Amino acid sequence: MDIQNLLDDIVGSVQPLTGQGAVADYIPSLGSVRRDQFGISLATGTGDVYSSGDADVPFSIQSISKVFALALVLARDGDSIWKRVFREPSGNPFNSLVQLEQEDGIPRNPFINAGAIVVTDRLLSISANSPSAVRELLRKESGNDSIDTDADVAISEAQHGHRNASLAHFLASYGNLENPVDSVLDAYINQCALAMSCTDLALASRFLATNGLRSDGTPLLSPPQTKRINAVMLTCGTYDAAGEFAYRVGLPGKSGVGGGIVAVVPNNCTICVWSPGLGRSGNSLAGVAALDEFTSRTGWSIF
Ligand code: DON
Repeated sequence: MDIQNLLDDIVGSVQPLTGQGAVADYIPSLGSVRRDQFGISLATGTGDVYSSGDADVPFSIQSISKVFALALVLARDGDSIWKRVFREPSGNPFNSLVQLEQEDGIPRNPFINAGAIVVTDRLLSISANSPSAVRELLRKESGNDSIDTDADVAISEAQHGHRNASLAHFLASYGNLENPVDSVLDAYINQCALAMSCTDLALASRFLATNGLRSDGTPLLSPPQTKRINAVMLTCGTYDAAGEFAYRVGLPGKSGVGGGIVAVVPNNCTICVWSPGLGRSGNSLAGVAALDEFTSRTGWSIF
């Protein structure tokens, strides 16, 4: 198969979608990103990379960071995090407050904001500085030492972060945070504000397609742990659109409101797409369409 040709084709076919959808202006500095951009990169388990479109433009990874924070916590703690966060789809928006009260302060899964705040809290306890633990993993696995937090995005989210602050205080009221609310929120916001390109993210996610092996061949996760992260990505990675994403794309995937989506073809490759225009559930419109076309044309789906 000519992967390069396929990616170039996909860039052409999603073009009409790239001006559509809404940018995530609830974080004001994401509101000014041009919607007409689209990038796609594919990284094989052995490190070959194919890219097309705006694949080397850095964007705000936002909720995609939640996968890497979870991987670091599972790598260090094993299964104990599952006492503090469930792993069921929420069927609710990623920043919903209601379910948390109904379920006594245990978030539905580690990818909605409440669950990711708990995971970040744990990462803060085990690493002293959770954004830098995530950043170091991403730098190492992508081979790009210049990956960093976009300070403007972090400040912008901090100034408008009332929902996440509510979720964090709620979690604290149920005794489900180990660290002070302000430190956990600061760590979470800085992790989300990391800026990376499609190429960086496809490379950095490869451990999800290699049974947990890092780029230097050492294990980050065991094969069963890798299977489980991929399973949670499939069922919860695109929030209340996870059913539609599985139907259209048929791969584990994790989206962010910066417009990026990482998808995993287990034992084969990772794909990162990016386009800032979002659909109703906060997933990139052109990104989902691109992954739909990719799996439909290659047959590289888990189904
Ligand atoms: O906490 C937030 O609202 C953002 N920092 C991240 C949300 C996000 O990316 C949801 N994904 N589609």
